[in-house]
Amino acid sequence: MAGRLSDRTVVLGVSGGIAAYKACELARLLVREGASVYVVMTENATRFVAPLSFEAITGRPCRTDMFGGASSGGDPYPHLDRSGELDALVIAPATANIIARMAAGIADDLLSTLALSVTCPVFVCPAMNHRMYRHPATSRNIGTLRSFGHRILGPEEGELACGESGAGRMLEPARILEAIVAELVARPRAGNRPGG
Ligand SMILES: Cc1cc2nc3c(=O)[nH]c(=O)nc-3n(C[C@H](O)[C@H](O)[C@H](O)COP(=O)(O)O)c2cc1C
Repeated sequence: MAGRLSDRTVVLGVSGGIAAYKACELARLLVREGASVYVVMTENATRFVAPLSFEAITGRPCRTDMFGGASSGGDPYPHLDRSGELDALVIAPATANIIARMAAGIADDLLSTLALSVTCPVFVCPAMNHRMYRHPATSRNIGTLRSFGHRILGPEEGELACGESGAGRMLEPARILEAIVAELVARPRAGNRPGG
């Protein structure tokens, strides 16, 4: 049976939070649904999970750096969806930091620059300590991302990795997957959009 995301191309952006290990499960679920999954990690995310884990799950190179693509035989413009075939950018986990950079339009690494350049749906899955989540700066930044049309998935309440409890847990990968599927099945494939 064909997966619900077959023929869809998804970039999974992973930032440097403790929930980065859950992004491996999300990558696996996306692949199982038939999506072509490309993982882009922040430099800090690589302190939590090795790029090799994502490469093994997706069967594709995992990128962290903006530069050096052409010299190593890769895309010299990895921050641009030049073919217009990207169906979704999913950032999971989304740290307070990447959320703030995206809200401010800062483009100082591959993931934040990609987030600024794509025109496909963007799904943001916040995950952080509950005080970071409740901070007015984070609330404002999430509101700004909503105003851009980005879909904010979670977080949920519960026990946090730091041992405290509150709002800040990343939504479970299966629930993130269902939200992505619900949105994408209702849209034509990126390359088939009128004018796309
Ligand atoms: C053990 C540990 C766990 C962390 N977990 C989170 C987290 O869940 N969410 C978050 O926003 N920041 C978390 N941080 C802080 C981020 O790693 C830090 O803000 C970093 O600058 C994020 O960089 P990035 O957004 O470029 O990946 C954690 C830091 C440490 C040392």
